[in-house]
Amino acid sequence: MTKPRDLTTTEFFALPIAERRAHSASQKEWEASPEGQAEARAYQERRQAAFEAKRLELAEQMFRGTEYSRHCERLDLPARAVDVVLSGHMDDTPAVQAARGCTDILVLSGGVGTGKTVAACERIREYVYAIEKWSPLAEYDASPSFRAALPVWCSACELARIDHFSALAVDQFKDVPLLVVDDLGSEYNDAKGFFAALLDEVIDNRYANKLATVITTNLNAAGFADRYGSRVVDRLREAGRFISCGNASMRRAST
Ligand SMILES: Nc1ncnc2c1ncn2[C@@H]1O[C@H](COP(=O)(O)OP(=O)(O)OP(=O)(O)O)[C@@H](O)[C@H]1O
Ligand SMILES: [Mg+2]
Repeated sequence: MTKPRDLTTTEFFALPIAERRAHSASQKEWEASPEGQAEARAYQERRQAAFEAKRLELAEQMFRGTEYSRHCERLDLPARAVDVVLSGHMDDTPAVQAARGCTDILVLSGGVGTGKTVAACERIREYVYAIEKWSPLAEYDASPSFRAALPVWCSACELARIDHFSALAVDQFKDVPLLVVDDLGSEYNDAKGFFAALLDEVIDNRYANKLATVITTNLNAAGFADRYGSRVVDRLREAGRFISCGNASMRRAST
């Protein structure tokens, strides 16, 4: 059967009424025919493929923090580590293996340059690219629910600087679906233990609610316990993993 000519709304309403009826009837007949149904299916498939491609493109833009920076200023990822993750040459280091798919509390411990920050970045990429968890197509959506679905990246120094007494400031770290705290141990070690108390509160809540958390640190297990106390370490033993990434630096001198 031949397909009736596609008409714009204006063209359709410019026709005499009898022709309009005839056009509608042949349109219906076409839609019910095998050829018409195949055309509709192909159209749907093209739309779906274009939609998926757009979603991935937006996820990548969001991960890079470009287009989406209006909404994702909290995703202030370290550019050098992002470059490694997106380079196509990222090695499957022990840190990357541990971080991938991590849904518990993960502590990546190791010497400098052992790939901890890169691995944490890869976990964020993985989350952002799993677009069913949030809606990257809500391009201008700055609503609390959209923001709440975004992961949070912060350095321990940034975490130490937040207002410890503001529930609003503390809650975002307690409740986000995925939290990375980079370089724990590099923050100022306040004598009164304010930071350790904050960390304890954040970890306690994340542990209770089974929220994914990646912590990177140069401290080893003993140094970690020494600095942050046995409560945190106990919870980590039960709900988390303390992964040693060794001491072999992957940093190369720049040429
Ligand atoms: N998975 C990887 N694949 C390829 N190169 C990597 C990988 N991980 C790390 N590197 C290289 O090593 C460098 C240092 O990695 P990264 O910043 O993750 O180390 P780190 O363990 O966080 O170090 P630090 O303790 O000093 O913060 C990267 O800039 C990159 O050049
Ligand atoms: Mg690092």
